[in-house]
Amino acid sequence: MFGVNANSTPFPSVLMSGLQAPSSLAEEHRGLFRELVELESEGGKTGKAVNELLAVLEPHFEKEEEAVMPLLGALRPLSEGKAIRDYSEAISLHERFSSDYPMMLKEHAQVKKLIERVRTAARKEGKGGVVAAMDELEHHAKVEEEVLYPAAMLVGAFASGKAKAKVS
Ligand SMILES: [Fe+2]
Ligand SMILES: [Fe+2]
Repeated sequence: MFGVNANSTPFPSVLMSGLQAPSSLAEEHRGLFRELVELESEGGKTGKAVNELLAVLEPHFEKEEEAVMPLLGALRPLSEGKAIRDYSEAISLHERFSSDYPMMLKEHAQVKKLIERVRTAARKEGKGGVVAAMDELEHHAKVEEEVLYPAAMLVGAFASGKAKAKVS
């Protein structure tokens, strides 16, 4: 069951310091990665195609974990009216994400092509489970493009605005 009950203490009541990825997103990345490494180890044409997919996906995941997820970690506290102690971290992440954003979308396009190759190989080799895993990964990228990337961008823009307001 999702949601916060009255007894839980998901966030400190005062200001937060240091931006951390939401655990749900970090877990999702770890789960997807584990699944792909397993499929890769099965070998064959499918394993080879998964290997090529991982070569693009691994650095892409790293970028997301470094520049996007920490911004998303600020989303919930900010929405609850809490402040970020040090805006400079959010601002530098925002700058990095803004400059990486077009490349990250290109990487998604590349990932989608590689997913298609894995699907084709998996169908030929009769590996139905692989096709389902590719659907899951494609959905992951779609959620990022439609929701998570824009949300991270908004957090960064909000932090930059707050910092400017503090200075003036
Ligand atoms: Fe991702
Ligand atoms: Fe992604």
